[in-house]
Amino acid sequence: MSIDAIRENYDHPPFTEQDAHHDPIEQFRLWFEDAWRADGRTPNATILATCNKEGVPSARTVLLKGFDQRGFVFFTNCQSPKANDLKENPRAALVFYWASLARTVRISGDVSHVTREETDAYFSSRPRASQLGAWASDQSAVIDSRETLHGRFDHFKQKFTGQDVPTPPNWGGYRVEPTEFEFWQGQANRLHDRLRYVMDAQGENWTLQRLAP
Ligand SMILES: Cc1cc2nc3c(=O)[nH]c(=O)nc-3n(C[C@H](O)[C@H](O)[C@H](O)COP(=O)(O)O)c2cc1C
Repeated sequence: MSIDAIRENYDHPPFTEQDAHHDPIEQFRLWFEDAWRADGRTPNATILATCNKEGVPSARTVLLKGFDQRGFVFFTNCQSPKANDLKENPRAALVFYWASLARTVRISGDVSHVTREETDAYFSSRPRASQLGAWASDQSAVIDSRETLHGRFDHFKQKFTGQDVPTPPNWGGYRVEPTEFEFWQGQANRLHDRLRYVMDAQGENWTLQRLAP
């Protein structure tokens, strides 16, 4: 197989200034719903980019678990490398890519912790096995085998028999509070539509800009 054989000439409706909602969060909602309808397979998967205090970047996939005017929420282990980056440098970028629509959305902003109540509400909604998995895993620590992981899972399964699984103390949510969005719509001949929303310094108004592809 040759990678050169992969060619796409995007044949999708354009995305113009007239189409763009004045509120980028509402615009995200529209595109997110389109992605859900078009594909249905994890439209909430997003690449989360962080940077430590030395400026070393890293990126990984997480699942978006909610969004509203306050921002975009994901949950994770709060002692993981991503959490350490966010402690040192509480800013992040998210990238969604919805291939079947030839669309991508970039979001960046400051990051805050979601409240313990929100975290508990989400954690308690998860399947029990996922809850136990969160207890069993020191996310991104080196482990000697898969058996070790299963052993820890069984340990917590036993420990919490007959009771609700509480939220692990090192588990929680983060909210990316957006100050910039870009909506990218693939178009023919590489003349793609790119509309960027930038928040003003007062944090009050969004400015819409068109970017060259
Ligand atoms: C589709 C998909 C969804 C994922 N969702 C999450 C998530 O919501 N939270 C999370 O901590 N890790 C999630 N992961 C695992 C992360 O990509 C990553 O392996 C893990 O969080 C460790 O990252 P870190 O070492 O950079 O902290 C997901 C992976 C995939 C492929």
